[in-house]
Amino acid sequence: MILKNGQVFINGKLIKEDILVKENKIVKVSKQIEGELPIVDITGKIVLPGFIDIHTHLRTPGQEYKENIESGTKAAVAGGFTAVCAMPNTNPVLDNKKEIARFLERGKKEGVCKVFAFSSKTFQQQGRELVDFEAVSDMVIGFSDDGQPVVEKDMMEKALLKGSSLNKTIVSHCEVKEDGHINKGEVSEKLGIKGISNKSEWQMVKREIGLAKRHNTPVHIAHVSTKESVNLIAEAKRNGAPVTAEACPHHFLLTDKAVEEMGAIAKVNPPLRSEADRLAVLDAIKTGVIDAVATDHAPHSPEEKMEVEKSPFGIVGLETTAKLMLDLVNKGELTLAKVVELLSEKPHKILGLTGGEIKQGVPADLTIVDMDKEYIIEEKPRFSKGQKTPFAFKAGKGDVHMTIVDGNIAYKNNEKEG
Ligand code: DOR
Ligand code: ZN
Repeated sequence: MILKNGQVFINGKLIKEDILVKENKIVKVSKQIEGELPIVDITGKIVLPGFIDIHTHLRTPGQEYKENIESGTKAAVAGGFTAVCAMPNTNPVLDNKKEIARFLERGKKEGVCKVFAFSSKTFQQQGRELVDFEAVSDMVIGFSDDGQPVVEKDMMEKALLKGSSLNKTIVSHCEVKEDGHINKGEVSEKLGIKGISNKSEWQMVKREIGLAKRHNTPVHIAHVSTKESVNLIAEAKRNGAPVTAEACPHHFLLTDKAVEEMGAIAKVNPPLRSEADRLAVLDAIKTGVIDAVATDHAPHSPEEKMEVEKSPFGIVGLETTAKLMLDLVNKGELTLAKVVELLSEKPHKILGLTGGEIKQGVPADLTIVDMDKEYIIEEKPRFSKGQKTPFAFKAGKGDVHMTIVDGNIAYKNNEKEG
């Protein structure tokens, strides 16, 4: 196909170019490409390098009532993602060659975008014994026990050393477990619900930074939610420690007030925090202290997300993240180049994957956006099986127009405005 009349994001700038896509590759980027191929007119739209979600729960295998590869990847492409990185906290856990191979095969067959997998760091995510890193290393993009912290420092230390020797990303879900449901603060007191302190996160962030520094082994901090964590990561980076970090839109756009208003659908781990935390995380994505934006798309069934104290943690994010980021561009909070960095360039780099750039010869994974399109977020996701979103009814401007995966149109926005 020929993508005609769009503006293309190349080397940080928007340039009016056509793009020739053949098979699964970008064959040519230049002015006025003519030819016999189907023309896709994208006048007024902007072509960006495909977004990759570095933190997705696809719930396969074993929890397909919450999500499956088909529904999850349909949600992904609707949200502008050309690739997702699935977390291994499934049933069974993705902690061995056989399960990971089976999952990746299903990803290819059932997925409408690229599906990468993380292996867990420890067997069954129990923190007691390391997975056979060497055996699975070639199949996965990294190792993560997401959902659970690795409690023992020695175990984490071993995982970091192994990961670094194999050149694989080690992700840390930083948490010292507390018996709580929402952020510890005014809201938890008012509602009489047990809270989770900021310290439950930042003390683990501090430990991981210490280990990364001591051995010079990279660590990637998942879903940063507190101002203290932001400060620790900023300091570590100033000192040259090999630390990267991600944040999720809910942590820099919402606070624990959302739990007061919406109850269980705003219950997530780490929890939505205070306004001061929110602002610190938002600032950190602007300044580069946080490298990437991830969805932490964590769908549960609507029936599970009823009562705060009984509900599992997790909110959906694949269909809303790009919209919310583009709205921040229209509001003058972020530049489009920053959004590309956060959703494409850096996450690819953190995982050691190629991508994040539009040029001749690379796979045609493209996210085409319409910066003028106004939207109101629907109450429920359109494609994900997950529950309602805490961003329901939020109005904004800037939306995904089309998602191209390996040269095929995987999604086209047919929604009416508003
Ligand atoms: O809210 C969350 N949900 N946080 C996690 O770390 C895990 C996730 C899940 O798997 O549901
Ligand atoms: Zn997590």
